Amino acid sequence: MGFTEKQEALVKESWEVLKQDIPRFSLLFFSLILEIAPAAKNMFSFLRDTEEIPQNNPKLKAHAVKVLKMTCESAIQLREKGELVVTDTTLKYLGAVHVKSGVIDPHFEVVKEALLRTVNEAMGEEKWSEDMKGAWGEAYNQLASAIKAEMNNNN
Ligand code: HEM
Repeated sequence: MGFTEKQEALVKESWEVLKQDIPRFSLLFFSLILEIAPAAKNMFSFLRDTEEIPQNNPKLKAHAVKVLKMTCESAIQLREKGELVVTDTTLKYLGAVHVKSGVIDPHFEVVKEALLRTVNEAMGEEKWSEDMKGAWGEAYNQLASAIKAEMNNNN
C-alpha cells in the first residue's frame, strides 16, 4: 500500500492551486456537499438557519481548509512514513466534534465526492487525471478511516 512520490506530488501540486482561492473553492466544496446530500445542511451551525450558502463565512472556510489541508498532509505522511500519523489529541478532538455534530460514516463518502470534484474544478480538465483522483482519494480514505475509527470508539 505504498504511497508514491508521484502521488504525493500530484496532491501537493493541486493543493497549491486550491490555496490560491480559498473563498471560491470552499464555497464550491460546500455547494457540492449540499448538492450530493441536501440533508447535511442541518449539521453545520453556519448553514442551519440560512437559505443560501453564506459567502465568506469563516467557519465554512475553516472546515473546507481543514479537510483539504489535512488530506494533503496525510498524503505527505503516507509517502514519508508509509502510514498516517495523527496525534491522539487531534484524533480525539476530531472524533468528538463529528459525533457531537451528528456526523455518521456514510457522510465521509459525500465529502470525498465533493472534495474530488472540487480538485477537478480547480485543476481543470487538462491537469486533472485519474492518477490525481486516485492520490487524493487514497489520502482522504486513510484520514477518514482514522476519524471514523475514533468516532465509533466514542459511541
Ligand atoms: C467540524 C475536520 C469530515 C461535518 C470539524 C472540525 C474539524 C473538521 C477540524 C472542527 C471545526 C474547525 O476547526 O473547523 C474534518 C476532516 C474531515 C471531516 C479533516 C475529513 C477528512 C466531515 C464530514 C462531515 C463533517 C464527512 C459531514 C458531512 C462537520 C461538522 C462540524 C465539523 C458539522 C461542526 C462545524 C460547525 O457547525 O461549526 N471538522 N471534518 N466533517 N465537521 Fe468535519
